[in-house]
Amino acid sequence: MKILLAAPRGFCAGVHMAIDSLDLTLKKFGPPVYVYHEIVHNQHVVTAFEGKGAVFVTTIDEVPRGSVLLFSAHGVSPAIREAARNRELFAIDATCPLVTKVHLEAIKYAKAGYTIILIGHEGHDEVLGTMGEAPEAIVLVEDEADVDALEFPAGTELAYLTQTTLSVDDANRVIRRLRERFPEIHSPPKDDICYATQNRQEAVRRLSDEADVVVVLGSQNSSNSQRLRELAAEKGQRAYLIDGPQDLDTDQFEHTDTVLITAGASAPETVVQATIDWLVSIYDATLEQREIRKEDVKFPLPKPLRAYAKELT
Ligand code: F3S
Repeated sequence: MKILLAAPRGFCAGVHMAIDSLDLTLKKFGPPVYVYHEIVHNQHVVTAFEGKGAVFVTTIDEVPRGSVLLFSAHGVSPAIREAARNRELFAIDATCPLVTKVHLEAIKYAKAGYTIILIGHEGHDEVLGTMGEAPEAIVLVEDEADVDALEFPAGTELAYLTQTTLSVDDANRVIRRLRERFPEIHSPPKDDICYATQNRQEAVRRLSDEADVVVVLGSQNSSNSQRLRELAAEKGQRAYLIDGPQDLDTDQFEHTDTVLITAGASAPETVVQATIDWLVSIYDATLEQREIRKEDVKFPLPKPLRAYAKELT
């Protein structure tokens, strides 16, 4: 068996920044540090941080007054920021700057009187945060059928935005339909689907034809990881989204000569390595690295942590 190891894969700049932020916050303030939503959507990362004293919450009411609170990489709505202020929490914002960019676009369009069509997945943490910036001005669509059902009064000025971790192909289909129905619709100056999502999808698109099976490391609630599995499946491959080799079975590798391995933007490299080790130990697999693009993006830490990070170096 041959393993093709896709690159870029795994942690993106936003996930690195969010994880470093939580590490530093735990060191600086000591546990418990409360985190609004999972810091990133990965079971291994969340469990490891719980062991170090991070407490993940889904409402601000769960956080004792005066505590330290971190906002996750997916961003939060202004209502959550206000609830944190009212509870006198010391809030540190680890929102990915590329999510913040979408929030700022939503604010700009809403202020200018546009109705915003947000292409995204209902209930996703990022979508909840973005919609919270201008709830009265934003309509969510997931697919072309949702676009077909849209009705607006004559003269409504429209703009669209997208969640950062969508399938590029799906988003393009929805955007095409939006343009057909609403030719005057405004679009953001730069793509909202982030560089990490695009690069990881491009690697699967280019490499999966060479494989019989595609294994994506990532948790089930990770949007960008799900999109990688779907992309491989759409290209006709057997594709599995797993948290680690414990989720694999030899039945899944019958008649398999080549396995493509990749990882979503929130999946740590340790689970990639563990999966490679599993395939090597059972199938004596050989490894071939396939890098389709270099990534050197880095995001700064949240302001309240920068001086402390310098002290430690
Ligand atoms: Fe940010 Fe994209 Fe990662 S939005 S958190 S760089 S997947």
